[in-house]
Amino acid sequence: MGTAKAMFLTVEGVEGVGKSTHIETIKNFLDERDIPCILTREPGGTPVAERIRELLLAVHEDEALCELSELLLVFAARAQHLERVVKPALAQGKWVICDRFTDATYAYQGGGRGLDVAIIAGLESLVQGELKPDLTIILDLDPRIGMRRASERGELDRFEREQIEFFDKVRRTYLDIAAADPQRCVVIDAASDLATVSADLLKILNSSLLKLA
Ligand code: TMP
Repeated sequence: MGTAKAMFLTVEGVEGVGKSTHIETIKNFLDERDIPCILTREPGGTPVAERIRELLLAVHEDEALCELSELLLVFAARAQHLERVVKPALAQGKWVICDRFTDATYAYQGGGRGLDVAIIAGLESLVQGELKPDLTIILDLDPRIGMRRASERGELDRFEREQIEFFDKVRRTYLDIAAADPQRCVVIDAASDLATVSADLLKILNSSLLKLA
C-alpha cells in the first residue's frame, strides 16, 4: 500500500514507560501494510550520534556535565541524525519512527533542568528549520511507576539518577506540549494494561493513515 507522504512519527514519555514495546507495535502495523519505515532513536541513530549519546548517558564521576553542554550535545547529535538518517529516509518515502525527539529536549532540558525555552527554540530552528514530526505519541505515566520499572532493568544512567521531582517536571512539560499542539500530539495513558495501550495506539495510527489517504 502506498501513502501520499512519508510520516515522521515520534514517541515520547518518561523512563520506564514502555516505549520499546509500543514502537514494535507501530513497526508491525506498518509492516503489515507494506509501508516502508525505519526505526531510529535520539540521542543517537547514527554512529557519531550514538557516541554523543554515550557521553550524555554516562555518569562522569570526575566532572559534572554542564546543563548547557548537555543541551548542545543533544542538538549536535540531532543535527547529525537529521542529515544522515531522518531527512534521507523521508526523501525516499520511508516513514521514520523515532524513539524521542525535540519534545524530549523541551521536557528534560527545559522542564527538568529549567533551561530557557527560548534558547531551546532557537536551537530547534537552527538545527531543524521547518522540519517537525507529523505525529507525536506521548506515553503518559506516573514517573514513580516508570522509575520502578527502569530500576529493575539494571544500572541507572545519568538521567535515570535524577530525583522524582525532575521526572514530575518532565512529565508535566510533555503534557503541556500536548495541550499546546493537539494537532500533532496524542497522549496515551500508559498506566493501562498492554492490550489497551496497543489498541489505543492502533486507533491513532489508523486515523493518521486515513488522513493521508
Ligand atoms: P532513552 O532513549 O533510553 O529513553 O534515554 C535517553 C535519555 O536521554 C532519556 O533519559 C531522555 C534523555 N534525553 C534528553 O534529555 N533530551 C533529549 O532531547 C533526548 C532526545 C533525550
